[in-house]
Amino acid sequence: MTFDVATLRKEFPTLQREVGGRRLVYLDSAATSQTPEVVLAAMERYYRYSRSNVHRGVYRLAEEATDAYEGARTAIARLVGADPRGVVFTKNATEACNLIAYGWVRRQLGPGDALLCTVMEHHANMVPFQHAAQDRGFEMRYVPVTEDGQLDLDAAAQLVADGRVRFAAFTHVSNMLGTINDVPRIAALVRAANPDAIVHVDGTQAVPHLPVDLAALGADSYALTGHKMFGPTGIGALVADPALLERMEPFLTGGDMIRDVTLAGATWNDVPHRFEAGTPPIAEAAGLAAAVTFLEELGTERVRAHEVALGETFLAALRATDGVEVHGPHDMAQRGGAISFSLEGVHPHDVGAVLDDRGVCVRVGHHCCKPLMREMGVNATVRASLHVYNDEDDLEPLLEGLSAARRMFAGSGRA
Ligand SMILES: Cc1ncc(COP(=O)(O)O)c(C=O)c1O
Repeated sequence: MTFDVATLRKEFPTLQREVGGRRLVYLDSAATSQTPEVVLAAMERYYRYSRSNVHRGVYRLAEEATDAYEGARTAIARLVGADPRGVVFTKNATEACNLIAYGWVRRQLGPGDALLCTVMEHHANMVPFQHAAQDRGFEMRYVPVTEDGQLDLDAAAQLVADGRVRFAAFTHVSNMLGTINDVPRIAALVRAANPDAIVHVDGTQAVPHLPVDLAALGADSYALTGHKMFGPTGIGALVADPALLERMEPFLTGGDMIRDVTLAGATWNDVPHRFEAGTPPIAEAAGLAAAVTFLEELGTERVRAHEVALGETFLAALRATDGVEVHGPHDMAQRGGAISFSLEGVHPHDVGAVLDDRGVCVRVGHHCCKPLMREMGVNATVRASLHVYNDEDDLEPLLEGLSAARRMFAGSGRA
């Protein structure tokens, strides 16, 4: 095992809990990760000692708050190999996708243009563009998913061939299938057909689990969210090429994002501040910076290695379990640690309830991927997702719950 998981777990207060007299087994980090003490401490430090607003004060507290906030920008930029001027803080990844949909797509695309998306997207990286397409009259094109849970890149090449795709939005890692997409290859394919096309990648499920280098990926913009990477809720980011941000219009307007305001109108602040209207999430930024340091100290290569090793164990055990069908790639080299599966004859909500009785937290439902679920012909799945604080000890309660669920429900007609 790459980490001393038992020691690492002690850093997460929630993981010390018991549920119904049982040890908490947290297998839902793809929905939200747990928060380590260092992140809680960073937020508390701001609230206890430095609470004040950013960018406006000339006194000590305001300088400390500004340093904490801007320090988070530098931390995110360092983590993903970006220019800090390209890091725009948002409320979450959903808002990051909306920011580029409003700031660029809606301004640039119109009738005759096309936007490439994929069937495997989370709603956050699909609906903002569908909505824009309805209003602006451009065409949405979707890359299909193959039987083994991969993007069909031959189909993608055909979808971009006429050169009308001016924007591509796709995920780095699927939250439902676990698939790790070949971002450089897809970006190259899009640009081969239209060198000016913008490539937007949803990195929400990648940043907490893999080394990410935006230059190597070839993405123009990249969305991430704090709460899945050990950080607080209420903060995410759109990380983009500053030159692209310069070409974007603000999404929200008001205080802080202006250079000057007269009764006749306003001019905009520099990037990235032009996209951060109003008082930003300061405590959350302080927490996010601590989360980045925590992740860096673990080492993103080691995080990935831990997940590959543990994922192989979980995948092998689940595939060997009677009635379990694992969705998505079966080889950990091609996937992350979010493992969706169906249990024959048992509705996923019943599986979730039986597991909850055993202190096991999994996600059940459509995972905000309704179009993908429709294509796959399933209404809902169970998803067990791994992170650094999971180990083999978490497997047994999961398997035990699955066999209990089968004993209780299979044949009840609820599936
Ligand atoms: C792949 C993916 N994209 C986007 C999101 C949206 O993240 P948030 O809810 O933090 O905006 C999620 C969250 O589940 C996700 O898994």
